[in-house]
Amino acid sequence: MLIIEKIDHSQLPKHIAVIMDGNGRWAKKRGLPRILGHRAGEKAVRNIVETCAKLKIKILTLYAFSTENWARPKTEINSLMVLLKTYLRKELKNLLKNNIRLNVIGNISKLPQGTKTELDKVIKKTSRNSGLLLNLALNYGGRQEIVRAVNFLLRKKLKEIKEKDLSDNLYTEGIPDPDLFIRTSGEKRLSNFLLWQLAYSELYFTEVLWPDFNENDLYSAIIEYQRRNRRFGGI
Ligand code: FPP
Repeated sequence: MLIIEKIDHSQLPKHIAVIMDGNGRWAKKRGLPRILGHRAGEKAVRNIVETCAKLKIKILTLYAFSTENWARPKTEINSLMVLLKTYLRKELKNLLKNNIRLNVIGNISKLPQGTKTELDKVIKKTSRNSGLLLNLALNYGGRQEIVRAVNFLLRKKLKEIKEKDLSDNLYTEGIPDPDLFIRTSGEKRLSNFLLWQLAYSELYFTEVLWPDFNENDLYSAIIEYQRRNRRFGGI
């Protein structure tokens, strides 16, 4: 029996969020520079995005660059930004073909102009697509996102706020919370990713390094998610 045949297509997670970790270790294991690990990671991104679109998953959020990633060597940051720009350039045709809409969460004002221009272009050109929403987290930090929301609310001079007020002022406004969170490479942390939104998500960790993460690994995560009994605090 193929792994995909074990998936119940009527119980798919609506929203999957992923920390794509392990590119550097993948490269190191092969004696390659880290950037080649990121490039191999880009191939995995392409594959997982297309697989989610085929499965009819509604939303896929990928952590592509965190607010903490600026601490990396300049050369690695530059290479990642160029990689992102070329990915978007190459991928536009496929995104359109697969009815995928691109969105960004995070403070993209700090990204290099070339990357921003490409992002704006692809967001605009895919804005009418109605299939998978591909949410890229770029220069994203969960705590910063919450503080930003609080500051928006303070400006409105409210006396008291409700949960909905806060969630409506996050980057993910209007997007349902992730049902399934996946982190690759054996690390078991949230690393400042979607702190508010992951409150009730099923957490799935795998030893597989991101460049090796393929459709069968995604199916395994979904099957594990479907085995779990989500109670949201009830009984
Ligand atoms: C973590 O691996 C990965 C990143 C910080 C960047 C993620 C970027 C990609 C997967 C490249 C392509 C992305 C898109 C959207 C086209 P790491 O470098 O921290 O690995 P390590 O922990 O083994 O060093």
